[in-house]
Amino acid sequence: MSDVAVIGAGYVGMTTAACLARLGHRVTCADVNEERVAQLSQGKVPILEQDLPELVAEGLASGRLRFVVGATAAAREAEFVFLCVQTPQSENGAADLSAVEAVAREIAPVLRAHAVVVNKSTMPVGSTLIVARELAQAGAPTDVGVASNPEFLREGQAVHDFLQPNRVVIGCSNTEVAVRVSELYAGVQAPVLVTDAASAEMIKYASNAFLATKISFINAIANMCEAVNADVREVALGMGYDTRIGFEFLHPGPGYGGSCFPKDTAALIHTASEHGYDFSLLRGVVEVNREQHKRMVDKLRAAVGGSLDGVAVGIWGLTFKANTDDLRDSPALAIAAALLAEGARVRAYDPATAPSAAERVPGLEGLEIVTDPYDAVAGAAALALLTEWDEFRWLDFGRVHDAMDAPRAVVDARNLLDPAAMRRRGLAYQGVGR
Ligand SMILES: NC(=O)c1ccc[n+]([C@@H]2O[C@H](COP(=O)([O-])OP(=O)(O)OC[C@H]3O[C@@H](n4cnc5c(N)ncnc54)[C@H](O)[C@@H]3O)[C@@H](O)[C@H]2O)c1
Repeated sequence: MSDVAVIGAGYVGMTTAACLARLGHRVTCADVNEERVAQLSQGKVPILEQDLPELVAEGLASGRLRFVVGATAAAREAEFVFLCVQTPQSENGAADLSAVEAVAREIAPVLRAHAVVVNKSTMPVGSTLIVARELAQAGAPTDVGVASNPEFLREGQAVHDFLQPNRVVIGCSNTEVAVRVSELYAGVQAPVLVTDAASAEMIKYASNAFLATKISFINAIANMCEAVNADVREVALGMGYDTRIGFEFLHPGPGYGGSCFPKDTAALIHTASEHGYDFSLLRGVVEVNREQHKRMVDKLRAAVGGSLDGVAVGIWGLTFKANTDDLRDSPALAIAAALLAEGARVRAYDPATAPSAAERVPGLEGLEIVTDPYDAVAGAAALALLTEWDEFRWLDFGRVHDAMDAPRAVVDARNLLDPAAMRRRGLAYQGVGR
């Protein structure tokens, strides 16, 4: 059992803290957001994440998990300090490391001898050295170790992915430090890959870039399927049986989004160019993704007769994928913004976002958010289904038909609904690539 500090109580930090407590460690999780710390201390988990409330409650009850305000309060006694703060995209595409660097400077004076600082935030190649430098300059003990331990969890199944990962990657040239970090994961059944820090950092970016590439690839194939009258679902099935390709991430849609793929692809392109390499393949992936958002708007515009000006459009789904409440870089928001810009009146329903969600979405003040899926389509000429929430399959489409106005266009950006059933209901259905 080790004393662990987790800095940042966001999606990754909360999960890391609760799961490390489950694994038997004494964990102190810190954030600067006092309200969040107060909520978590009472067992209230402020995000939608399966199994996390139960795990936080378990950690609090056992005394192995606590939440505090401020990084130093957590780091003071810790043997390991996990950095889980945000690394957003800066204007030139690079990852903005200012939050990480600030934490390193903040905790350096209070770190105990032999402590290990673990970079769990996604950071470009070289960041482990940057963190080590910041720590040293700010007065950390000279024997403090720094390791990269990138996180691969998927929102919506973060707890599962943390406790049953495909792999644990530890990047550190000091074997003793790497072994100590790996011991924190005793009890997790997964291969542990110990490598140098640069390779660990690259593994994270290469993995996300590859997944983004798969999504853009199948979206491009879907667009081809529309042109040649093929069905992308059959194509993806036929491809997926090849074990070299696999079935996962071959679902066409409105383009990838979320808090990771857009910024991580941009950061990798930026790192490549800094080192004199033009990552044209990945630039293409990003471009296909941008076009895919636009294609959904094109479909809607064409379906309502060529202009969206003054047209009422209902949206189902705002989060970047189902089973999360995360709106960051959601394709649905990009599409809603484009619809509003063309003069459409847009009303949206999402199972995970409250009516106040509009306040959290700068630039989308014109977006009306309702709490009932039928309200979203009342009087609408078109419906855009933008997130694959399972509940959308089971709605009363006779009622949807009656609530909508002609031409009753349905653009199903996730291929969630049954085209024949929709058409039988009198809805002008279009999917993606079929
Ligand atoms: N969200 C994901 O699915 C996911 C998956 C894998 C990796 N990552 C990476 O993990 C990192 C964190 O992502 P996230 O989604 O959890 O971010 P987040 O924005 O949800 O959480 C970051 C938290 O850090 C806190 N914070 C910032 N500065 C602080 C400081 N000085 N002291 C204490 N707390 C501070 C913020 O208040 C916030 O609560 C990013 O680098 C991200 O790329 C995210």
